[in-house]
Amino acid sequence: MTERLTVRQETPNDFNEVFEINQIAFGQDNEARLVDALRRNPTVFIPELSLVATDNNKIVGHILLTKIIIKDDNGNLIESLGLAPMAVRPEFQKSGIGGQLIKQGLKVAKDLGFTSVIVLGHEHYYPKFGFEPADKWNIKAPFDIPSDVFMAIELVKDGLKNISGTVIYPKEFETV
Ligand SMILES: CC(C)(COP(=O)(O)OP(=O)(O)OC[C@H]1O[C@@H](n2cnc3c(N)ncnc32)[C@H](O)[C@@H]1OP(=O)(O)O)[C@@H](O)C(=O)NCCC(=O)NCCS
Repeated sequence: MTERLTVRQETPNDFNEVFEINQIAFGQDNEARLVDALRRNPTVFIPELSLVATDNNKIVGHILLTKIIIKDDNGNLIESLGLAPMAVRPEFQKSGIGGQLIKQGLKVAKDLGFTSVIVLGHEHYYPKFGFEPADKWNIKAPFDIPSDVFMAIELVKDGLKNISGTVIYPKEFETV
């Protein structure tokens, strides 16, 4: 990993570059448009949780965590965070930048008082940062996916104790 790497909160000046990074990393613009749409939804968007990684002032990666809801069988709504999307410029991938973004994202989320994060992602990658299958807490995705790619992490001890249910994503995710 490069020593020049910095992770910081994005600013409006970064929006175009963040769009481009998502577009290039995913090879389509669905995720880039998703980021734009989520930013416009103040009920789920937390500016401190849209982070960019910079290398010599060039933006090389982006991570977003937005508010999601876990709805239990009794209809109780529990607030959590969803980690998505995350993107690193292809030529900068596999040098730990994604990992730095995740670690900083989890730290800021914890500092803001959030108690858990949910992610749909690579089952060998996110466990490196402490994620475990959400099945452990009987937390389900709202769609049919293999259980090992749907993961959660407690940001504080027992952050998901006695919490189970189905995740409700912001409506913006329906377009991806
Ligand atoms: C996923 C991504 C952000 C990781 O960024 P990165 O800076 O390369 O991450 P790191 O250097 O910390 O870690 C790289 C590792 O993650 C693995 N990895 C993470 N997510 C992966 C995925 N979706 N598919 C395949 N491998 C993945 C890599 O294989 C690599 O494994 P290794 O460490 O055993 O070699 C980057 O690969 C990317 O932008 N991918 C395209 C967009 C995407 O799929 N985003 C994730 C879904 S929201």
